[in-house]
Amino acid sequence: MLKENCPVSHEFDEQGRIALCQGDALERLRALPAGRFQLIVSSPPYNLGKAYEKQARFEDYLAWQKNVIEELFRVATVDGSIVWQVGNYINSGEVFPLDIYFYPIFKELRMRLRNRIVWHFDHGLHASKRFSGRYEVLLWFTKSDTYTFNLDAVRVPSKYPGKLHYKGPKAGQPSGNPLGKNPSDYWRILCQEWETGLIEIPNVKANHPEKTEHPCQFPVELIERCVLALTNEDDWVLDPFGGVGSSVIAALKHNRRGMMIERDASYSAIAEERIRLLQNGLLKTRPIGKAIYQPTGREKVAQTPEQWRELNQGNLL
Ligand SMILES: C[S@@+](CC[C@H](N)C(=O)[O-])C[C@H]1O[C@@H](n2cnc3c(N)ncnc32)[C@H](O)[C@@H]1O
Repeated sequence: MLKENCPVSHEFDEQGRIALCQGDALERLRALPAGRFQLIVSSPPYNLGKAYEKQARFEDYLAWQKNVIEELFRVATVDGSIVWQVGNYINSGEVFPLDIYFYPIFKELRMRLRNRIVWHFDHGLHASKRFSGRYEVLLWFTKSDTYTFNLDAVRVPSKYPGKLHYKGPKAGQPSGNPLGKNPSDYWRILCQEWETGLIEIPNVKANHPEKTEHPCQFPVELIERCVLALTNEDDWVLDPFGGVGSSVIAALKHNRRGMMIERDASYSAIAEERIRLLQNGLLKTRPIGKAIYQPTGREKVAQTPEQWRELNQGNLL
C-alpha cells in the first residue's frame, strides 16, 4: 500500500513525505509555514506527571496548550481538521475532564466541533474511590465549514445488511448502504484485545503486535480511521506530540504525508525504527476493522475462581 519508500527528513520539507522532528512542540510549530496541514491529530500530555512530562499548575498547563493550539490553527489548511484526543486530568482524587477545558480554547479560534467521539476501552486501572474510567474522547474540530469527510472510506459492516424497505417506491429493495454503515461517534477500537493481552499474556510488550515501551501510545487503527475520513492521498498529517510515531504510521499506510514532533529522543528513535519496519513491510499493526475479540466464557480468566464462588452467592452479578 505504501507508495514508495521515501527518505525520512528531520525538518519539514513540503516536497518530502515524512518528517520526524525532535524538539519542543511549540518551538518547532512556530518555525512551520502557515496553512499546510490537512489533519492535525494528537494526544497531548494530560499534566499527570507521567514519565514524559513535568506537572505544572493546571492553569499554566492550559495556557501552554492554548499557545500550542493557536499555532496548530495557524498551520492547518483552511479546510483542515484538528482532532484532539484527551482523557482526564486528576488532582487529589478530583476529576477534570480535559475536553471540557479544551473546548473553549478551540471555540475562541472560531473552530467548529463536528464530533465529540467517545473512544471506549475495557482495560485500565481499577479505581477504588470512584467508578473506573473506561473511555476517553476525540474532539474533532474543523477550521471552516468546508472540510473533507470521506464517509465511504470508513464505513463498517451493517448489523442487518439484509434489511429491506417495507413500503414506498423502494419496497423490497435493500434499505442500507452496500458499503456498510456510518461507524458513529462511539468507537470501540482494540479494547478487549488489549485487555485480554493484559490478563492472559504477562509480557504484553513482547506479545502485542503494536506495543512499544511508550506508556500511552495510540493504536494505529484509531488514527487510520481519522486519516481515511478527514484527508485525501498526499495530504499532510501532523502530530505535535508524536510519541512513537503512531499518527505518522497511520498516515503513511494510506499514502498521506506524515510529520511529528516529539521532545524525547528515545521515543523519536522508536518512531523512526517503526517507520523503517513499515517501509520494509515488517511493522505489525492490528488490521483496521478487524472484529473485536469476544471471550467465549471458557477461557480460564473468564471463570470465577473456586475460592470466590461462595462469596459471590447472592451478589447482584
Ligand atoms: C500522550 S503521549 C503521545 C503518544 C502518541 N500518541 C503515540 O502514539 O506514541 C504525549 C507525548 O508528548 C511528548 N511531549 C511532552 N511534552 C512535549 C513538548 N513540550 N514538545 C514535544 N513533545 C512533548 C511526550 O514525550 C509524549 O511522548
